[in-house]
Amino acid sequence: MMQVIQTRDYENLSEKVAGIIFDQLKGQPDSTLGLATGSTPVGTYQLLKKQPEHFIEATTFNLDEYVGLKESHPQSYRYFMQEKLFNTVPVKASYIPNGSATDLQEECKLYEQKIQASGGIDLQLLGLGMNGHIGFNEPGTPFDSRTHVVELAESTRQANARFFNHLDEVPTQAITMGIETIMEAKKIVLLVSGNEKVQAFDRLFRGEIEEKFPASILRTHPNITVVHDL
Ligand code: F6R
Repeated sequence: MMQVIQTRDYENLSEKVAGIIFDQLKGQPDSTLGLATGSTPVGTYQLLKKQPEHFIEATTFNLDEYVGLKESHPQSYRYFMQEKLFNTVPVKASYIPNGSATDLQEECKLYEQKIQASGGIDLQLLGLGMNGHIGFNEPGTPFDSRTHVVELAESTRQANARFFNHLDEVPTQAITMGIETIMEAKKIVLLVSGNEKVQAFDRLFRGEIEEKFPASILRTHPNITVVHDL
């Protein structure tokens, strides 16, 4: 079942999503939360910082991480999460794929095992890529994929180059939860904000369910809420 919540603006979207997370934690303080990076959830994370007491028993798993950036690199997703959330919100444990692991395949397997060991993800936050990607699962990724290493598309590297000094510094690989991993979350909240997402949003509802548009599979999830300000 897909529920769609239209909000007035980005602030209102962030309030709505923060409310959903607080409700989840009030009902089940030891929830396992799936988190995303990117611009869209930043407003939500700011609001979560106002009530950090709800998070002490929570465990979090992030969707993805670049390969080859140290945790201390300002563009690593670990650094991003530290800045945007964890420096103020004291979760019990926070997991992000380790993009500096020597054996990346093993790291992917371990990540899946950790998710299973924590009882699976209760609530997964997602952003929507303009090409329909979720996590770093670009168009064409099999729907039955698990946590895996991806080669970043040249277009993705170019799009992300603005955050680095030079295109050469942008990693060529990342680790991401797979589409099947994401779909196993008990609840999913998809955040969509801004005019540049209008086309992708439209395709999400009207297009075919196909691997060419990864987010389309979300329509088959039993408990998904789409919160948008379009
Ligand atoms: C982030 C992630 C990405 C983003 C997506 C939207 O961890 O996996 O799929 O959610 O690219 O990014 P923003 O929110 O910056 O538009």
